[in-house]
Amino acid sequence: MLTELLRATRAHSLALAAPLTAEDAQLQSMPDASPAKWHLAHTTWFFETLVLTPYLNGYRVFDERWPRLFNSYYESLGPRHARPQRGLLSRPTLAEVKAYRAHVDAALWDLLPQAPAEALALIELGCHHEQQHQELLLTDILHAFSCNPLLPAYYTRAPARVYPPAQAWLRHDGGINDIGHGGAGFAFDNEGPRHAALLAPFEISNRLVTCGEYADFIEAGGYREPLLWLSDGWAAVQAQGWQRPAYWLEDGQVFGLQGPHPMDPDAPVMQLSFYEACAYAEWAGARLPTEFEWETACGLPGFAQAADQAWQWTRSSYAPYPGFKPAAGAVGEYNGKFMVGQQVLRGGSLATPAGHARPTYRNFFPPAARWQFSGVRLAR
Ligand SMILES: [Fe+2]
Repeated sequence: MLTELLRATRAHSLALAAPLTAEDAQLQSMPDASPAKWHLAHTTWFFETLVLTPYLNGYRVFDERWPRLFNSYYESLGPRHARPQRGLLSRPTLAEVKAYRAHVDAALWDLLPQAPAEALALIELGCHHEQQHQELLLTDILHAFSCNPLLPAYYTRAPARVYPPAQAWLRHDGGINDIGHGGAGFAFDNEGPRHAALLAPFEISNRLVTCGEYADFIEAGGYREPLLWLSDGWAAVQAQGWQRPAYWLEDGQVFGLQGPHPMDPDAPVMQLSFYEACAYAEWAGARLPTEFEWETACGLPGFAQAADQAWQWTRSSYAPYPGFKPAAGAVGEYNGKFMVGQQVLRGGSLATPAGHARPTYRNFFPPAARWQFSGVRLAR
């Protein structure tokens, strides 16, 4: 099963990069977004550094100069090229990065039959890590394309129509609920330990807020009414000149992976910051769910659009669960050190690789981030 996960994951990254030219794959449109080429190389570096070098006897590092380029944020794994300058790495070329991938893949296949349990666990982590970067590859290229007046399309096909159910409130009685991953199967360290959370009775929407509903908020002056906004959110509105979601164009179209297309009022609104999600909820007489409410409610009958459209901002700060301890060594830097100043998003999006997300999955971004497939589910 791990063999198949590895094969499929490595192949999927290349498939996602296939529509891109080498020039596309080089683009870095802002410090938070990375070039597609860098994603392809960094996910490979992860396997090389954490799996092959320690566990495959005689493994030859593909190029001794490259780990510095493709280490993302691991202080314990040596110096790094500055993140905002990844777009300056015209060398290695895309073709050389693909050769790097092939070299590392071949070594992983050599290691697999003889890999000790710790190495197998790291290969599994490397696959789930690469899946995270697959979504980032799409969100980052979408941002890069959005900066090009030609508004290039990544996909040639039209966006799928969305047919959401009529909005309804799903009621939950609250009480003491178990939260977090505790069973078999892979989960990131930040999903545990499983623990009890006390919830007051609450209601949660059966679906995401639609573009049509969000257009009503804009029409009603939502972006001009400071009382709807968190203080930091209102400051962002002022400083950034926000008037609509990130990829809503002035001509009423929406920019997406398929290029510009007419706004579908039934489609979930996305590419919203946490601040916009909160302001909308305030305007709508509701609030965002906590991540505990979301996880407790996501199995309720009628809970639609859980993980297939947009990540859902929650009112929960990204914090360790009671008893959380990062792993020893470099993998301990994976999640724990980011547990400050960010909000949790739950669910999954249309860009999330199949099989990647779970009900206990905790995505996280800073509250002003708008380039992800992030939307709104209301609670009250
Ligand atoms: Fe990474």
